[in-house]
Amino acid sequence: MLYTTSFWLTLFAALHYALGASTPGCGKNPPASGTKTIGSNRQYVLQVPANYNTSRPYKLIFGFHWLGGNMNNVAPGYYGLRDLAQEGAIFVAPNGLDNGWANTGDRDTTLVNQILAEIKNNMCVDDTQIFATGFSYGGGMSYSLACSNAKDFRAVSVIAGAQLSGCTGGETRIAYLGIHGVVDSVLNISNGRTLRDRYLRVNGCQSKNAPEPGRGADSNFMKTEYSCTAGYPVWWMAHGGDHVGSPSSGQNWMATHTWDFWTKAIYAGVENPTPTGTSTTTTTTTTTTSTTTSQQPQPTGNCSARYGQCGGQGWNGASCCQSGYTCTVVNSFYHQCL
Ligand SMILES: *[C@@H]1O[C@H](CO)[C@@H](O)[C@H](O)[C@H]1NC(C)=O
Ligand SMILES: *[C@@H]1O[C@H](CO)[C@@H](O)[C@H](O)[C@H]1NC(C)=O
Ligand SMILES: *[C@@H]1O[C@H](CO)[C@@H](O)[C@H](O)[C@H]1NC(C)=O
Repeated sequence: MLYTTSFWLTLFAALHYALGASTPGCGKNPPASGTKTIGSNRQYVLQVPANYNTSRPYKLIFGFHWLGGNMNNVAPGYYGLRDLAQEGAIFVAPNGLDNGWANTGDRDTTLVNQILAEIKNNMCVDDTQIFATGFSYGGGMSYSLACSNAKDFRAVSVIAGAQLSGCTGGETRIAYLGIHGVVDSVLNISNGRTLRDRYLRVNGCQSKNAPEPGRGADSNFMKTEYSCTAGYPVWWMAHGGDHVGSPSSGQNWMATHTWDFWTKAIYAGVENPTPTGTSTTTTTTTTTTSTTTSQQPQPTGNCSARYGQCGGQGWNGASCCQSGYTCTVVNSFYHQCL
């Protein structure tokens, strides 16, 4: 029963992501940029793109501050992402209580849900392109949202994070980028690896060596791109430095790779289904639930041939088709390359 429910949710999510969707705020005059208040004690900074177009569905990016920081440390640069977005994204910097993200009683998840509702109602958002990032405690909060709100967020980038804000759920796929320093003296790199490993499992990634550099500069990094279920990549970037939210010298590679991850990597290998056709997409064919016992990597590198099976309940084989064929849902038990 759980599996069946999960299957349909996955199918729905895949179609939703593939087809795109804009929000009720499209067509409305936007709010002004600046600090907004929710309830009696919560705040966030909103950055509206210049020359805002009321009918263009924008990316929506959340940036979470570190312990001891606040929303005004994240705005207006948003970890270097705002320059890269070139006024093509709405940015939000929520403010933590006590300068952190303890998320006691889910209070911070609740805040994020309120902000999401407010922005979707008042602004034109592509709700298949909602992202979160943050450094340290802000990374922990981004991870917590990956666990609890994978239906809202398409991908996260967790910089020097740890499980500090909880992880409710955590069994739904979401594209995951982890960045960590090998000599992080605040939240050691094992923390970052543990967060990453959850999504290697949940996203059905093939195991792979993930080399890390020796102690050195935080401008020096090594990157591993795992092969995972199409649409749900995992990247791991280990650098030679300590606990930093951006490199202390040189180019901001954390921002540029986060941007590449959010704008390119999540689409690699994803086929666009024809809106008029049957439910056909390579991302509908496997499910990961809390009841899954097998942690075998999905053989995404070995796609099924024409007429071969490529998915369905209980199927553990290839979840993709060789070039030229599309994985087609024949029924919930049998997906075939046609
Ligand atoms: C506003 O966005 C819509 C939808 O993306 C686009 O068709 C239109 O050309 C844009 N208008 C301007 C003035 O850029
Ligand atoms: C890394 O940090 C975790 C959590 O604080 C701790 O349990 C673990 O012992 C640390 N590992 C090393 C190698 O220091
Ligand atoms: C790929 O599929 C072929 C034919 O089914 C099989 O013999 C081979 O072992 C598979 N390779 C991998 C890496 O799974």
